[in-house]
Amino acid sequence: MKGVILHGGSGTRLRPLTYSGPKQLIPIANKPVSQYALEDLVSCGVSEVAIVLGQTFPELVRSYYGDGSKFGVEITYVQQDEPKGIAHAIGLCEGFVGQDDFVVYLGDNMLQHGIGQHAARFRTERHDAMVLLKEVDDPSRYGVAQLDGNGKLVKLVEKPKEPPSRYAVIGIYFLRPSIFQSIKSLKPSWRGELEVTDAIQGMIDRGLRVGYSHVGGWWFDTGKKDDILDVNALVLDERATSDMGGEATGSKLSGRVQVAKGTKIVNSTVRGPVSIAEGCLIENSTVGPHTSIGGSSIVKDSSVEYCILLEGSEVNGVERLEDSLIGKYSKVSQNAQNRRTLKVHLGDYSEVVL
Ligand code: DAU
Repeated sequence: MKGVILHGGSGTRLRPLTYSGPKQLIPIANKPVSQYALEDLVSCGVSEVAIVLGQTFPELVRSYYGDGSKFGVEITYVQQDEPKGIAHAIGLCEGFVGQDDFVVYLGDNMLQHGIGQHAARFRTERHDAMVLLKEVDDPSRYGVAQLDGNGKLVKLVEKPKEPPSRYAVIGIYFLRPSIFQSIKSLKPSWRGELEVTDAIQGMIDRGLRVGYSHVGGWWFDTGKKDDILDVNALVLDERATSDMGGEATGSKLSGRVQVAKGTKIVNSTVRGPVSIAEGCLIENSTVGPHTSIGGSSIVKDSSVEYCILLEGSEVNGVERLEDSLIGKYSKVSQNAQNRRTLKVHLGDYSEVVL
């Protein structure tokens, strides 16, 4: 089985951060969202992956993943000139896929338990396509599946105003090359895109075998700031380990705290789960829980909780920073007369002084 990761799209819901990088590279517990997808593919035996690049800084994606050898996989890049839809992006991979079966992973989707058991099911049940379903409270935000009285999948609709069920179709699709014929006959939807739900509907209409598998555990489409902070907290809760690679002096560290090499923690309190990347300085501060700090960042005379700070950011003199996503090389500082809780979403290279 081959793998395809979609790394394009416009990322409008995550501006300003997506003005300077694709949303799929935003780190969760100090690792890009799309790397979780890549590792999930590798862990179920996929050795060839195509990454579909969009127009938002595709060179950052190429330089991060390279030829894939660091991740134990061979990566081919496919360029999508405009975000014309998920089905359009899949259609560009026809040459890469050849006659193999394949799994498409939207690079902003994260699944608690990964795809292993679903991949096994797809392999044994030999469907032409298999979608993954998750019961949600707000199905109209997603592709939605309609099942008949016998539990057979009969219809897929994209973001319906009146959803036929509460089963969202999540952003991971197990497919065979027969999808390409359906993609070729698609017309753009009301939102001007070639929809993957319509392509799979085309397979149902052609009498092909389209199955589904229910997903347990959490699933996130990390399209908005609050989703990113929530999934960061969950991943830290589940996967953070205690790992002291840096130096702590006069400080109290409790819970699971991951500190990479070259990081100094001075006169501070760190409450896990927390992940702090390499080369940071944490001084006279309280950090955590549920916080990830990117490499070469500084937190001084501040308190930071439930936040993601990207590489090279600085938080200085901030009484309380919470629920915040801070872009690369951005600086937030507060003067002593202006102390209060701050909640911010800052793009890269920004500066806020209060
Ligand atoms: O997350 C699950 C949902 O993803 C599904 O329930 C929907 O059926 C599916 O259409 C999709 O909906 P979204 O509106 O969330 O899709 P979005 O535009 O956010 O794009 C999803 C991913 O695909 C994202 O990583 C960007 C990438 N993409 C998107 C488009 C439109 C591309 O690479 N190229 C594209 O042209």
